[in-house]
Amino acid sequence: MSELNNIALKILSNGKGILAADESTGTMTKRLKAVNVESTQENRLLFRETLFSSEGMKKCIGGVILYDETIKQNSISKKTIPELISSSGAVPGIKVDTGAKILASSPNEKITEGLDGLRERLKEYYKLGARFTKWRAVYIISNDYPSKLSIYANAHALARYSALVQENGMVPIVEPEVLMDGEHSAEECFNKTSEVIKKCYEELIKHKVDLKGTILKPNMILPGSSSKNNIDSKKIAELTLKCLKGSVPSEVPGIAFLSGGQSEQEAAKNLNSINLINDTNFIMTYSYGRALQQSALKFWSKDIKNIKGTQDTFNHRAKMCSLASQGKWSEDIEKK
Ligand code: 13P
Repeated sequence: MSELNNIALKILSNGKGILAADESTGTMTKRLKAVNVESTQENRLLFRETLFSSEGMKKCIGGVILYDETIKQNSISKKTIPELISSSGAVPGIKVDTGAKILASSPNEKITEGLDGLRERLKEYYKLGARFTKWRAVYIISNDYPSKLSIYANAHALARYSALVQENGMVPIVEPEVLMDGEHSAEECFNKTSEVIKKCYEELIKHKVDLKGTILKPNMILPGSSSKNNIDSKKIAELTLKCLKGSVPSEVPGIAFLSGGQSEQEAAKNLNSINLINDTNFIMTYSYGRALQQSALKFWSKDIKNIKGTQDTFNHRAKMCSLASQGKWSEDIEKK
């Protein structure tokens, strides 16, 4: 089990975090369409490979979450994608859920699927080089939601997933994402997120998951994206830390936030504020998708052959996130 703890620490320590490049083909197609690039297998690989072979990987990225298509691809250098990632010092990981589907009996909510046949898929991913995995549960906030049913059902699935992943020698990322959509206040986000995370650990413990060999990937505590009451970054950090201190068992080695629709700069600034006042033993770092890739994708879309320019853009973002994970980010450095 200390082996799993070592993997988790390798991914999260020393100013490193996770690059979430595990968009499903549907989501990646949406992202590419938005910048007018055709979503072919070659283009999806080219963009991802450009990031995976950048300088920023070496210092700032401890783990990369891949999608099923990508983990099976080869890079231009003929290395497999997991080999390319390992050669930069990062750990290859894989998204193993099969997506969020309508929850029977509460059709406005979602339940994440993918447990059937999971043991066999995990064995295959391990052979391909994966050493950690991701499963994302999603929850909406409104007066009636998330329901007790969705909180319980998703926690149960996350626990069954985590136990299977550890059985197969990998570190599970437990991702309960309470979505930003809505007019709710940060206090409501705090209350609902606390309830969701507590239930996840209740189930993980029931399923005898070794928490030292897991990583939590939560949302930060923010007001809803349509809410009118803005709060400053310090307050976001205080509420986020209060929530995690009250709901995450101390054995968990680290917490890697999702960006969830924050801009690249907000995601860096808020993570930095969290680390400026982090009075816990948890490592607090990033597992960003959009907040690590957005500007690089935009740059790349203008000329998909401009590898260096795309990598420079990504390197800057990765450096900003790395500084934020150490409480060393500032608006001045951001502009340089
Ligand atoms: P974002 O950082 O874009 O929210 O993506 C992270 C992720 O992996 C969501 O599951």
